[in-house]
Amino acid sequence: MSAPWWQNAVVYQVYPRSFRDSDGDGVGDLRGLAAGLDHVARLGATALWLSPIYPSPLADFGYDVADHAAVDPAYGTLADFDDLVAAAWARGLRVLMDLVPCHTSIEHPWFAAHPERYVWAAGRAGGPPNNWIATFGGSAWTFDERRRLWYLHSFYPEQPDLDWRNPDVVEAMTGVVRFWRERGVDGFRIDAIDRLLKDPELRDDPPATAPFALPLGQEFGRLEHVHSTNGPDAGRALGALREAAGDGLLVGEVYLPADASAPYLEHLDAVFAFELFHAPWEAPALRAAIEACAALRRPGGADGAAWVLSNHDFSRLPDRFGRENVRAAAVLLLTLPGLAFVYQGEEIGQGDGPPGARAYDRAGRDPYRHPVQWEPEPLRAGFTTGEPWLAPVDPLERSIAAQAGAAGSLLELYRELIALRPRLGAGIELLDAPAGVLAYARGAHLVAVNTSARPLAVPARGEVVLESERGACADGLLAGGGGVVLLAGAGGGDPAHRGP
Ligand code: GLC
Repeated sequence: MSAPWWQNAVVYQVYPRSFRDSDGDGVGDLRGLAAGLDHVARLGATALWLSPIYPSPLADFGYDVADHAAVDPAYGTLADFDDLVAAAWARGLRVLMDLVPCHTSIEHPWFAAHPERYVWAAGRAGGPPNNWIATFGGSAWTFDERRRLWYLHSFYPEQPDLDWRNPDVVEAMTGVVRFWRERGVDGFRIDAIDRLLKDPELRDDPPATAPFALPLGQEFGRLEHVHSTNGPDAGRALGALREAAGDGLLVGEVYLPADASAPYLEHLDAVFAFELFHAPWEAPALRAAIEACAALRRPGGADGAAWVLSNHDFSRLPDRFGRENVRAAAVLLLTLPGLAFVYQGEEIGQGDGPPGARAYDRAGRDPYRHPVQWEPEPLRAGFTTGEPWLAPVDPLERSIAAQAGAAGSLLELYRELIALRPRLGAGIELLDAPAGVLAYARGAHLVAVNTSARPLAVPARGEVVLESERGACADGLLAGGGGVVLLAGAGGGDPAHRGP
């Protein structure tokens, strides 16, 4: 059987509002996106993932969907979407949509016409039905005056949770999957999939006794989400999504530690490796996270981790790992086996933006969503001809135009790494290395990353195939903040001492 197209694929996350604007309204759109595809193709990516483009009142910037089978007029039309898919395919790029199955916008017609498709309950002692907390804080329940009942919302109150135990919901959402598959999309990133089903008895969540393995909002983190998330019968719902998607790629946003996300791989092709995403930039922590996530396997044994270090929900990579480490982080991300995701702007080192005059996202995520910096132009950065919805951050310091073709630029490093990926061997073997160095073998290739600020020994000699920076690896020493790919055995030296 031939390998699926996504094996070793690099998926480029497009946040459509901020990618490229074609009509001067300051908001990115599908035609702008199509006009920027050459950049993604030249990067060497295999596919695009589009954060939601559906009509939305923007309480959660598109993750509150008001119509699953249309394009928000701010982004264009279904015809523009078809043109975009054709333009992507013409460049060898596949297209993934964002599927948001756990909730809709409160303005979705279903909420009024089919309230039974949502999760409702009577209150308890004059308050909500139980103690569940919404992800961004506050009770996960809101009282509806009209129905005199409470509805559940795992996120904002404008995002009521769907009831996946209602067969109509399964029917409707699988219909959505089929709609987009028939339009040609190659798969989906599935939003917040661990919220699909909850405890049918709506039991209280117990207080947390230890910090959760991944960062959570302060209030949300006070409880252990044993009943409000990750329902025991999620498998059936996922099976229905899988059936509707056929052989399309399904990547789950399962916000759980790796071992708890493993069951999702019965039906999904990959789950995001959030443990690595949130690991501190220290070799032992990175190693432990890679070990845990690399153990994620699909039923046939194939890699199940989707590696990612940046997205629209969290502080950008230079701000989390330190700007001095972005090159080594790129080496790490793009030499891991399986799928890798790159968030727009990451390839040129874009960092978080300053808060704007107006705050759009109530959970404070605007800083991670500033426009892509195409040109070294201070006000619009080639993103728009109008007034950008969020200002560019530092286009004079970094832009695609300035880095494309420039020897030693971060963009060129991303291109080199993506081009190298198919040559790396299957699987991963973590190696013993001096403190501060993370090292692993990918077949005959050896990857080493120095998470410290001073030069350290690499655990093997070999021909340098790629360096994070020219001269980063010399005489068996790797510069602080450096990364290297060696062809082990070539060029002489000691063989690696393999770890347990
Ligand atoms: C996911 C999205 C995030 C959104 C949430 C609710 O975590 O990535 O942006 O707010 O789901 O849909």
